[in-house]
Amino acid sequence: MSIDYLGEIYNAKLSDEEFRKLSEFIYNNFGIKMPEIKRVMLQSRLQKRLRELKLKNFKDYVDFVFSAEGQDNEVIHMIDVVSTNKTDFFREPIHFDFLTNEIVPQFMDESPNETFKIWSAGCSSGEEPYTITIVMSELQEKFPGLNYSIYATDISTKILSHAIDAIYKEDRIEGIPFDLKKKYFLKSKDRIKPTVRVIAPLRNKVTFTRLNFMDNSFHTPEIFDQIFCRNVLIYFDRKTQENVINKLCDRLKPNGFLFLGHSESITGMKLPLEQIKPTIFKKVI
Ligand SMILES: C[S@@+](CC[C@H](N)C(=O)[O-])C[C@H]1O[C@@H](n2cnc3c(N)ncnc32)[C@H](O)[C@@H]1O
Repeated sequence: MSIDYLGEIYNAKLSDEEFRKLSEFIYNNFGIKMPEIKRVMLQSRLQKRLRELKLKNFKDYVDFVFSAEGQDNEVIHMIDVVSTNKTDFFREPIHFDFLTNEIVPQFMDESPNETFKIWSAGCSSGEEPYTITIVMSELQEKFPGLNYSIYATDISTKILSHAIDAIYKEDRIEGIPFDLKKKYFLKSKDRIKPTVRVIAPLRNKVTFTRLNFMDNSFHTPEIFDQIFCRNVLIYFDRKTQENVINKLCDRLKPNGFLFLGHSESITGMKLPLEQIKPTIFKKVI
């Protein structure tokens, strides 16, 4: 392949029509808003895909996406490219404090012999569900009878495979207290690119699987005591948000808790939820 050819791909531009087709497809199938303002981002992220597929321009790419082969194989890559996976260990710590100080003690009072079931919905590369395992593992020292399970889902298969590997650059865990780092992470021997890996007993507590919030209903293996769905809904319009939260509530036990991200609001939506604190909700029926 000549340098000119690569250059041509690198500079490939999305026409109005190609952008409209892709943005409508992404919205209808994944709920992700792709307004004009995101056009340059979409174009530059997809340019990489064009290069990988050795396609010359976006017309060929759009034709491929809408072909039978593309629908089977490419759509999954496209969603990896368009979704935003930003996340962190112990992101929005108020939620982990509430879980530690309120929810789990109450659960252990009321149902000490049951398993506390948690769903990390939109789990990205695993930092959120592994933070939950750390918190729950610490709580087991206070409540030795505490049993828990964690189900974690995302739409992106690429990000899920990162989550399953549970290997992170060492600086990703900088903010975690030293004793927790020592207890729950293994350090690589590589001094140039130091990484850490979540220890196996914690990795084994989390079941990862792919789930699209646009599915008509969510076929999770169980009903949960607690759902984390944080910093995902912001990418959807209000109607889609309401629809997704209603489907989440169907998988939540009565009196179960839902945590949303700090900039997500449900004001004005018809939902079986009572607000306990900003971003913390309880299922009321
Ligand atoms: C910004 S991350 C949030 C990660 C984590 N919950 C947190 O708060 O740190 C949003 C995640 O939602 C996922 N996502 C986007 N659209 C989705 C959809 N339609 N169904 C399921 N997951 C989706 C993305 O792949 C991404 O990993």
